[in-house]
Amino acid sequence: SHLEMFVDELLDMPKVLGFDVLNGVPTSKSLKIGMFHKKWKFHRDLPPTPVFAYGTSNKTATVPGPTIETLHGIHTHITWRNHLPPKHILPWDPTIPTAVPKKRGIPTVVHLHGGIDKPESDGNANSWFTAGFKEKGPTWTKKKYLYHNIQHPGNLWYHDHAMGLTRVNLLAGLIGAYIIRQPDIEAPLRLPYGDEFDRPLIVFDRSFRTDGSIYMDPTGNNPSIHPQWQPEYFGDAIIVNGKAWPYMKVRRRKYRFRIINASNARFFNFSFTNGLEFIHVAADSAYLEKPVMVNAFLLAPSEIADVVVDFSRSKSDSAILVNNAPYPYPSGDPVNESNGKVMKFVINKHPEGDTWRVPKTLVKYPSADSSSASLTRYIAMFEYTSDIDEPTHLYLNGKSYEEPATEMPKVGTSEVWNVINLTEDNHPLHIHLGLFVVLDQTELVNVDEFKDCMSKINDAVKCHISKYARGRKIEVPAHEKGWKNVYKMTPGCVTKILVRFALIHSNASYPFDASAEPGYVYHCHILDHEDNVMMRPLKFIK
Ligand code: C2O
Ligand code: CU
Repeated sequence: SHLEMFVDELLDMPKVLGFDVLNGVPTSKSLKIGMFHKKWKFHRDLPPTPVFAYGTSNKTATVPGPTIETLHGIHTHITWRNHLPPKHILPWDPTIPTAVPKKRGIPTVVHLHGGIDKPESDGNANSWFTAGFKEKGPTWTKKKYLYHNIQHPGNLWYHDHAMGLTRVNLLAGLIGAYIIRQPDIEAPLRLPYGDEFDRPLIVFDRSFRTDGSIYMDPTGNNPSIHPQWQPEYFGDAIIVNGKAWPYMKVRRRKYRFRIINASNARFFNFSFTNGLEFIHVAADSAYLEKPVMVNAFLLAPSEIADVVVDFSRSKSDSAILVNNAPYPYPSGDPVNESNGKVMKFVINKHPEGDTWRVPKTLVKYPSADSSSASLTRYIAMFEYTSDIDEPTHLYLNGKSYEEPATEMPKVGTSEVWNVINLTEDNHPLHIHLGLFVVLDQTELVNVDEFKDCMSKINDAVKCHISKYARGRKIEVPAHEKGWKNVYKMTPGCVTKILVRFALIHSNASYPFDASAEPGYVYHCHILDHEDNVMMRPLKFIK
């Protein structure tokens, strides 16, 4: 089907405040947010699509869900409630490690991505629950989650994290933006602010049948092993804030866009058709020290780019946001007419004054010092192939999720992780709780020899990694040099990151016991990989 582009206006998702104000003083708040089965209109000419949507009621639920706005230092409590039907709207695969309820129902559990919160509120994959909390996973402890919001200000997002169902639960619509604001730090920056000029843009790809329903291939590419599981989901329609290829009318002045890539597997390499620039001010969860201006940038699944676009610099009256990232990234198919376009900005002809600015410096955090690292780890990304040469498992360090934790950092320390990508795909690595700085990326030489050793003894040090990690250095782009919680692991390279397991703005320890059960995880954020099972436990010691 050929859907006309740029016919639906960009939506703003409803806002939900995560705090109350009593006599002018902000105080903590308890919210109830549900997951509802409803229909959602993705495009003017597409029949309404059955989705799973977050919202404060079925009527107000949206895809993506409401944007939760919180304040630094003020607790937000959320009871996430599952109101979903007994049967999923998408095919799923019980042959991968999956939450399977005894009766009927859809397992769900919410993770606040980028959140610095105790394990019992982190949305462990096995802390799932079905409608009405009728059935619960083995690590489930409580209904009401506590979000501390004690961390630096920035962009987070919430999404489902149920074991083996993350890819289908997100595809069905279970995602939303979450912002932590800190006015004493942010207001003096005078970046574009307020409902009109400061907008989250949640971008993902979907395919639809002509009846409007979401299309996901019901047959695995190696069905004798996994009847449904596919290594990557890609859709041909690009959705921004719940509309396919929307348009947005803008004034000739600065806007701030918090762009979240909520795709299962699609990377975006964004640029504007009229050459307009993006000025990066923050990334996933933290501000940069200085703004960085670029003409194009690559955003992996779950990465967040927080950019200012100054439409007063536009030479034309419209600009199309386009994408040219091959899929899978980097060696897959080139983009086509559909997935190469994202949205259109219709720019007012009349110039006007602008009260917003982009300051020379933003927010400086204590620097990331690798000499302070208490430990160096090696994490290898492998693809295990079967006789018919299809990937059956994508593992980290050759271990399944069930095997006991091997990464057990000490709370309050920093560690250097060398992530060795021996696959052909770029894998966005995400670590819960810790934030990291990308130190460098080095190409491996004689990869096959190294791979051979790794497939036999699976130990990077014993396989003499230093002998192989001495190829070309790949520059980390300036806008990616700040604190991150997810980053692109380039194939054939060792990516060295410095992970900090403490609050980055103060270096203080966490205000809770991070070593408690059920612990955290780290994983590839290509959801189809994460589900089968490029995910490992991350346990802390005191
Ligand atoms: Cu965005 Cu463990 O996830
Ligand atoms: Cu991956």
